[in-house]
This record gives sequence, structure tokens and C-alpha cells, in this order.
Amino acid sequence: MRLALVHFLGALSAAHAQNDFDPLQFVNLFVGSVNGGHTFPGATIPHGMVKVGMDTDSPGNARYDGDPQYNVTGFSQLHQAGTGGAVPLSNFKLFPILNCTIFEQCLTTISSRKILRKILPGGFPDDYASPGYFSTNLSNSIRVELTSTRRTALHRYTFPVTSTTPRILLDVTNDGQVSGINPRMEIDPKNGRITASGNYAASFGPDRYDAYACVDFKGFGYDFDGPSEYGPYKINYPDLWGTDILQHYYSWGSEHGGLVGFPSNPSKPSSILARVGISLLSTDQACANAEEEIPDWDFEKTVTNSRSLWKDILGRVRVDSQDVDRNTTELLYSSLYRTHLTPADYTGENPGWESSEPYYDAFYCNWDSYRTLFPLMSMHDPENFARIVRGMIDIQKHEGWLPECREMGTKQFIQGGSHGDPILAEFFVKLKAHVENLNVSPSDLYTALVADAEKTPKNWNVQGRQADVWIEKGYIPSDTTYRGGANTKQVSRSVEYAFDDFTISQVAKSLGKLSDSRKYAKRATNFINSWNPNVAVPDAPQIVGFMQPRFENGTWNYTDPRHCSVNDPLKATCFLNAIRRDGFYESSPIVYVPQDTAKLIELQGGPDKFVERLDWIFENNYFDSTNEPSQQIPHMYHYANKPGRAAQRVRQIINEAFNTSINGLPGNDGAMGSYVVFYLAGLYPLPATRQVLLSSPYFPSVSFHNPVFGTTTTIKSINFGKKNIYVKSTKVHGKPYKSNCYLEWDVFEQGGIVELELTDNVNVTCGSGSEALPPSISTGGYL
Ligand SMILES: *[C@@H]1O[C@H](CO)[C@@H](O)[C@H](O)[C@H]1NC(C)=O
Ligand SMILES: *[C@@H]1O[C@H](CO)[C@@H](O)[C@H](O)[C@H]1NC(C)=O
Ligand SMILES: *[C@@H]1O[C@H](CO)[C@@H](O)[C@H](O)[C@H]1NC(C)=O
Ligand SMILES: *[C@@H]1O[C@H](CO)[C@@H](O)[C@H](O)[C@H]1NC(C)=O
Ligand SMILES: *[C@@H]1O[C@H](CO)[C@@H](O)[C@H](O)[C@H]1NC(C)=O
Ligand SMILES: *[C@@H]1O[C@H](CO)[C@@H](O)[C@H](O)[C@H]1NC(C)=O
Ligand SMILES: *[C@@H]1O[C@H](CO)[C@@H](O)[C@H](O)[C@H]1NC(C)=O
Ligand SMILES: *[C@@H]1O[C@H](CO)[C@@H](O)[C@H](O)[C@H]1NC(C)=O
Repeated sequence: MRLALVHFLGALSAAHAQNDFDPLQFVNLFVGSVNGGHTFPGATIPHGMVKVGMDTDSPGNARYDGDPQYNVTGFSQLHQAGTGGAVPLSNFKLFPILNCTIFEQCLTTISSRKILRKILPGGFPDDYASPGYFSTNLSNSIRVELTSTRRTALHRYTFPVTSTTPRILLDVTNDGQVSGINPRMEIDPKNGRITASGNYAASFGPDRYDAYACVDFKGFGYDFDGPSEYGPYKINYPDLWGTDILQHYYSWGSEHGGLVGFPSNPSKPSSILARVGISLLSTDQACANAEEEIPDWDFEKTVTNSRSLWKDILGRVRVDSQDVDRNTTELLYSSLYRTHLTPADYTGENPGWESSEPYYDAFYCNWDSYRTLFPLMSMHDPENFARIVRGMIDIQKHEGWLPECREMGTKQFIQGGSHGDPILAEFFVKLKAHVENLNVSPSDLYTALVADAEKTPKNWNVQGRQADVWIEKGYIPSDTTYRGGANTKQVSRSVEYAFDDFTISQVAKSLGKLSDSRKYAKRATNFINSWNPNVAVPDAPQIVGFMQPRFENGTWNYTDPRHCSVNDPLKATCFLNAIRRDGFYESSPIVYVPQDTAKLIELQGGPDKFVERLDWIFENNYFDSTNEPSQQIPHMYHYANKPGRAAQRVRQIINEAFNTSINGLPGNDGAMGSYVVFYLAGLYPLPATRQVLLSSPYFPSVSFHNPVFGTTTTIKSINFGKKNIYVKSTKVHGKPYKSNCYLEWDVFEQGGIVELELTDNVNVTCGSGSEALPPSISTGGYL
């Protein structure tokens, strides 16, 4: 698909050729666009609310699918990226209609209008995408191009010269889940402006949301005053010269929208621009957004502006890509690109309350993103990070708790813990010296954290956590009848709450609140209450000791350690809708506790046994590359002083599970992009700490520019080569460094050069000094 080069984009990159490095050439938006990666290869700006892209009839996945057998059903304005579950958003699809002789007979429903794309000789659909731009050619030769600003999409439909009246339809009821009710739609006969709204189901929570659109049309390369035909439609019955959907919104038939036809360009193929403003507040606001953001209807300029935003943000991570396979560089930048899709900037569109603070939405969910996505933002994008944090604090002020999962202003289901906490803590601990300049109030931030830790909401399935039970028991009892909670994910929640409290202790410590810090650090060690030392793996009895469900009276229930893994004899799942609810969520009992790996080593019988278990995890397929809780496991070898094994495992995971093909993701993208970036950079973060685990990068040199610190940190490898993937020694600013296994965050604050001497001998160590191993709570804490 990438081969289909588009002329004006070629011209754009030529214009930039004199400039330095252009990371956009390495961004492949189609990675993970088949087989459930659910990536979004459409047009958006970094953290843009509007994500305009193609929808298809791919079963269970009514969004983009890179498999050309699926038909196009429309080009809609809002999309999630990389999510599982029901298909969210995909609202207000536009669809071009080529040739129907009579307006009233044009077929408008999804099933009758859908159409295949053109197929290229290699068997790929004729789609092209690059940051800020998407295009496709439909099999009827209509060409579709898309670009966007933050809240407005700009579409360009070019009809073949042989087409009769070019027509464009706006679908009001068919979002991704076909959930639209209360549709409203009006057409202004003078200029063809269509305003529309509806009420739609959220995808991962109990609530519904309202959305509003404002569509204007304009000839591209020729002028017309207004539409030559217009009318609302219901199922396959467009009503010529009607203006209001309510005119025929009676009981039968649930597909509603509007259809407009335009005069053709007399001399050339007719190109028609459609500008779509989106709002969560009103159609007036949607129109205002469109008029403000794309006043001049300049398609190329809109693309250029979007691309320069992308170029700025992606260009802060630089690699020396000579002598490195192009696919590796492409994997890096494509992954980095995807980490800037969500959360999204909905400032000015909060349906809940008025506020002068930024408003971010599309948290999907913090459980996925706290581990690596936000730590990556600390490295190169602290300004957007600060705005997200401000928005989260504002939500806590108005709703009582930090958001966990959020879509279109609605609360969605909690996954594990209250993972706004590690996000705020990551921000504070890493950017402490700059928080005031970034307009984040330390006391509001701390108040928000404490609310999660101490206050129990009525419905902790959508916000906060079961704080009362956690405080009282130090674990979440697995008794079905205990305190009215659903019998679900008690063990996972216990382990995650412990980590959340660890992150709060880190903030308390850096604020000088030492007794709070001790209190939360103590709570962070409560994961031990869920550790049953006597449970072994049935087919590997040497692997003993697991997190297990525990009753209120202190006795244990039993969950097979293989549960939820590929080796589970019962083939159970542990998603939110799992039937067997035995304490674990989207991960097996082989879960880890990043805050105190030294303690885990002790619980497992020492470093050798610990390494033996890590090897067993990888050799028996218990490492689950499709989901986030496994992410830290490869770097846990560091804590047993075996960093060479970590480097091998990272390479094994990338080789097996991540590549630049359209099926290059092992499962839903989620926050996988940020995980891949860290792996390729030879780093792994521990959120809310001031240490970054260190391994060997895939590039001879990789650097991170941090605009708030005003510094660039470059990691250079000496003896870089295919077999030399183990760090033998580390220098920072030219001086030998205390560890080969982690870098203090100060190194990234100050910037400069980190030099890694590489070797092909796997038996490297973290070093020999007392500070060579990365910290753990039980070896004295972190800050
Ligand atoms: C695409 O649409 C065509 C025409 O309606 C239909 O024959 C075909 O089965 C559709 N493809 C899929 C994958 O549903
Ligand atoms: C679509 O067709 C146009 C015009 O023929 C061509 O230039 C372009 O490369 C094709 N592909 C895409 C994805 O736009
Ligand atoms: C559309 O209709 C016109 C007029 O009937 C015809 O000449 C043209 O071939 C049709 N185009 C397509 C792609 O069907
Ligand atoms: C503890 O609680 C569990 C679950 O209610 C029950 O099955 C078990 O018998 C209890 N054990 C003791 C010692 O009370
Ligand atoms: C113990 O766990 C099993 C398996 O998940 C479950 O079926 C059973 O109900 C649990 N026992 C109690 C007393 O909750
Ligand atoms: C690319 O990644 C996918 C998803 O993990 C995997 O199924 C596929 O085998 C990989 N392809 C190659 C060529 O490694
Ligand atoms: C690079 O990736 C493409 C797409 O997945 C694949 O076809 C090609 O074989 C890869 N090249 C190398 C050298 O791995
Ligand atoms: C690494 O250490 C292991 C165990 O001590 C040993 O068997 C192996 O030969 C060593 N490898 C190298 C390359 O020195």
C-alpha cells in the first residue's frame, strides 16, 4: 500500500529535503491494520480529537481493515486507535455516490451503498496514508482524500469525469456500533450546510454520549453556489427537496441521514471538498470549530500544518539509521507515531462542566498506558503530558476521582487499579522542577492522588478503587458476597492498588511529606498478602509461589497458575466479560510487581530460582506479548544481575511479535507502540521513579530531545553490531557510570552523551558497586 505515492506529498517532502531529518518518511500507518491490531491509519494531528478515516464492513471491526476484500462503508470523523471491544465512534460517515440517475432512487443504507477499493497488483488495497493525510481509490474510480485539524475534518472527493451528478451522503445513525438514536439533521438549501446530531453508545462503559456535526461543501477547482439537489433520507428513500430528518422520522427504518448533489465541473473531474466540524456540545459549536480551524478551505495547507506538528513531535527522537535495516527504523517511528493518538485534546468540548483547564478524553485505558506511554511522554513530550495531567486533575475536582477509562465525556469500566495515580506521579516525579511553569499545581495533584487512595466511590467499576477494603484488609478478598462488589479481578486489583500506592509514596516523598510517603510505601508492599508461597504449576512443580485469590477470613482459594495463559487447560479468558471470574484480569497469576522486584526474588528463593522462573516464562510461552501486564518481564533479569538475558529476550519478543507488516501487531495495539519504542531504544521505564532500566539499543545512536529541560540525551553504542547486543560498560559524560542496568533520570534532565560499550558475551553484569542493581522498595526505595 505504501507504494502508491501521491503527487503533492512527494512535492512536500522535496520542499523539506534541505531541512534536517524527516521522521515522517519512516511512519507506516498500516502496521497492525488487519488481524485485530485495530490501528487507525487515517488523518489526525498529534492528540487530535478528530480522527478522520475509512470504515469498512470487516466483521467485528467496522473500522479500517487493510484486507481489500472488505467494502468501504464511509469516511467518518471520530475513531479510537488500537482498542479492543466493541467498535467505538466512527460517527457521521460521509460517502460519495457516483451514478444513480434519480435522486430519490439513490441507495443510501450501509449494505446497499458499500463498495470495494481498487486493488493494486500486489493484492493490497489502493490506500495511502502518511501523518496528516489519507487517500484511497474506490473501485468506481472515485478518489477520496482526508486531512484534519484538531476538531475539524476536511475531505476531498474527486469523481471521475464520466460521473453524472456528484452526490455525497451524511450518515447520522450508523456509528461503529450502529447505536445512533434521536437523530437530528437539517439541510440549509441555500448553501448545502448540513447540521446533525445523535446519541450513541460508548463502547466500554454503561453510558451514552451526544455528538454534533456541521458539514459544509465547496467545489475544488470550480465554484457552485449551493447543492443542485438535497434531501434527508430514511433507509433507501431519499426525499428530494426536504430539509429536515424529522419530516419523515417515523417508526420504521432506523438508518437516517442526508444526501446532497452538486453541479459537475464542466471541464475536469469534479472535486468537492467537505468540511466537517465536530463537537460534543452543539451543532453551533461544531460549525464554529470548522470555521475557526479551516476558514480558507485550503486542503494542502491543512495537510502541511498537520505534518509539521507531527514532524516536530516525532523528530525529538532521533536515531542513526545507517547500517540498520530500514524496517527497524520504520518500526520505531510507526510505533512512536501511534503513541501520540490518545489521549486526545477535547479542550472546549467537555460536556460535563465549564472550565478554563484543558480537557483530555480518549483514555483507553490508563491500565494500558501508565506503564510505558506516559513515561515516553516524560522523555520527549512533557508539554502535552502537562496538559493531560491538568485535564485529569480537573476531572478529579469535578467528579471526585481521577479518570481511568474515558470516552466522549463518559466514564468507562475500570480495568485494574486507579491508574490515574501512576500517571500523575510519573509526571510529578520526573518533571518536578518544572511543574509550576507547566501550570500544574502540586497541591491539587497530590489531593487528586489521595482521593483515589482514601475515598471509596459508590461505583468503583467506573472510577476510583475499593479503597476502604484495601485499607482495611491489605488485599481485596475474593468472596463473592464481600461488600457487594462484583466477583471480578480481585487479585489483579490488589497487585495494581499496591503499585498505585507506591507511586503516591514517591510523590509524597518528593513533596517532603515523609510520613505520608512511609504510609503509602507500606501499603505498596501489601502485594505480599496475595502471595501464596505453596502453589506450584501443575506441570512444572519446581515453579512455586504465586499470587492467588484470598478470602476475607485469610484462607486461600485456588486459581491454576496457568489460568488466562496460552497454556490454560480450560482455555479460559479473563477479559471483563469472562465467565470464570477467578481473580485475574487480562493476565495470568504470573503477574509481577515492578516496585519491589528484590522482594519477589526473595519470595521465589533467590536470584537463581528467579532467573530459572523467568526462563521458564519465556520458554513455555507465558510471556504474553499481546497484553500490557507482561511488559516489564524481560527487564526483570536486571534485578538478578543478568542483563544479557534481558537483551536476548527483548530481541526475541520484537522478532516474534512486532514488525512493520499490516499484521505486525500480536493483538490490539493499546499502548504497544510505546513499549516497542522503549525496547528499540534499549530502555525500559518504571513509572513514577527516577530510574530508567537500560539495555542495548537497536541503533548505533539514539537521542531524546526534551523541550522543557532544553536538553538532548544521546545513547551511543561502541562496537555496535549484529551480535554485540550486551552492555559491558557504561559511561555518562565520559566518566564510568555506577550501573550498566539503569540510568538515573538526572542523566536525561542534564542531557549529554551516554556511551555503551557493547560485547557479544551474554555474561555481562550490572556492575560491581553497591548501586549497580536497580532499586526496589525492600532495598531502600527509589528517589
Ligand atoms: C462487498 O460488497 C460486495 C457487493 O455488495 C459483496 O458482494 C461482498 O460480499 C462484500 N464483501 C464482504 C467481505 O462482505
Ligand atoms: C488513486 O488514483 C490517483 C489518480 O489516478 C493516483 O494518482 C493515486 O496514486 C491512486 N492511489 C491513491 C491511494 O490515491
Ligand atoms: C456513470 O453514468 C454515465 C452516464 O450514464 C456513464 O457515462 C458512466 O460510464 C457511468 N460511470 C460509471 C463509473 O459507471
Ligand atoms: C473461609 O472462607 C471461605 C469462603 O467463604 C470458606 O469456604 C472457608 O470455609 C472459610 N474458612 C475458615 C477457616 O473459616
Ligand atoms: C473458588 O474459586 C473457584 C474457581 O474460580 C470458584 O468457582 C469458587 O466459587 C470459589 N470459591 C468461593 C467460595 O468463592
Ligand atoms: C509479524 O508480526 C505478527 C504479529 O505478531 C506475526 O504474526 C508475524 O509472524 C510477524 N511476521 C514476520 C515476518 O515476522
Ligand atoms: C521489511 O518489512 C516488510 C513488510 O513487513 C517485509 O516484506 C520485508 O521482508 C522486511 N524486510 C526485512 C529485511 O526484514
Ligand atoms: C556464560 O556463562 C555460562 C555459565 O557460566 C557459560 O556456560 C558460558 O560459556 C558463558 N558464555 C560466554 C560467552 O562466556
